[in-house]
Amino acid sequence: MNDQPQDNRPDAATVAVHADSGYGDELGVAPAIDMSVTFTRSSQALFHELAGTPRPVKFYGRYGNPTVDRVAKLVSGLAGSEATLLTSSGMAAIFTTIFALTSAGDHLVVGTECYGETLELLSELERFGIEVTYLDKMSPSAVDEAITARTKLVYVETPSNPLMTVTDLAGVAQVCRHRGIVSVADNTVASCVNSRPISAGIDLVVESGTKFMGGHSDVIAGAVSGRLELLERVWWPQVLVGCVLGPLDAWILQRGIRTIALRVRQQNATALALAERLAAHPRVERVFYPGLATHPGHEVAARQMSGYGGLLSFEAKGGFAEAAAFVSRLKLCTYAASLGDVHTLVMHPAAGWRGREYVPREASFVPENLLRVSVGIEDANDVIQDVLQALN
Ligand SMILES: Cc1ncc(COP(=O)(O)O)c(C=O)c1O
Repeated sequence: MNDQPQDNRPDAATVAVHADSGYGDELGVAPAIDMSVTFTRSSQALFHELAGTPRPVKFYGRYGNPTVDRVAKLVSGLAGSEATLLTSSGMAAIFTTIFALTSAGDHLVVGTECYGETLELLSELERFGIEVTYLDKMSPSAVDEAITARTKLVYVETPSNPLMTVTDLAGVAQVCRHRGIVSVADNTVASCVNSRPISAGIDLVVESGTKFMGGHSDVIAGAVSGRLELLERVWWPQVLVGCVLGPLDAWILQRGIRTIALRVRQQNATALALAERLAAHPRVERVFYPGLATHPGHEVAARQMSGYGGLLSFEAKGGFAEAAAFVSRLKLCTYAASLGDVHTLVMHPAAGWRGREYVPREASFVPENLLRVSVGIEDANDVIQDVLQALN
């Protein structure tokens, strides 16, 4: 595993505490919350000069806000990026990025096994004349082959949710750079502690702040990080759509971020220990976790991640019925959507679509007996014992 920092930056634990130090003229150790939506100036000339500057933080709340800007600086530190835009959710980060960088007639290359609602969003975009090629195996050579003269963007999610498919970020970034195409990576499952796609050469990183960043299931947020020149193209569509993060939510997000390295490193260790126990369990068919040497993406993950993450999934023997029975037998783990929380959260994705009229795209590749576990920060043995008792 790559436990050396991917560049010469300080460790994520330090960055999460200090990357916003000395912001503006604030002296508070904890950031102030600036709730003002609008800001005045002493003259018309000054006011209009401000309104015309790019990304003003003291003009009108949809354009920017000092508290949100300070937290964006913190996220840039973790992402290792020049700049960050904070958004009202992870989906808002994904939507605004794609909306900003593509037009009717353009083509996108995407991994088939992305987060279910990302796939739903992409199929909505087809209504606007944006064509999408889905790759079952998102290797650099497959991406290279799929690129056409109309391709504007390559979109990767690694590891993917919930099947934990791993994509070679440096390889894909190199192909994109060579072909002059923008690369975007969803880093939500890995988290900015375990993976820095920017260091691998990816142009823009999207991450749901709702997950490991916030870490406590008390804020919905998202982030897009990358070079300023690209983010300026995303900023104006964000202003027009209005999917900005509010100052209170930004403050809650920074509160979560301060402890992200401590949480994620414990979650990495617990998830690996749980994956190993599940892999040896007679009532488990398959385990999906890149930390296992048997995982097809293990070698790539070992190269590009500093920890394998807090999310894993597995197939229970006995099909849908047994997976459904498993969740009802849990005593400590919480049966709930989402991931990256301090609580261990368990999901049975197929329960969400079985028997329903609308079957989402992810039903075509997520097995009905798949259970997803996002380990929390409880004692590792307590989590493992609960999962094992629910299986037995
Ligand atoms: C990989 C991934 N990307 C994006 C999102 C969307 O994040 P949000 O719920 O903050 O919009 C999720 C949500 O589960 C996710 O798992």
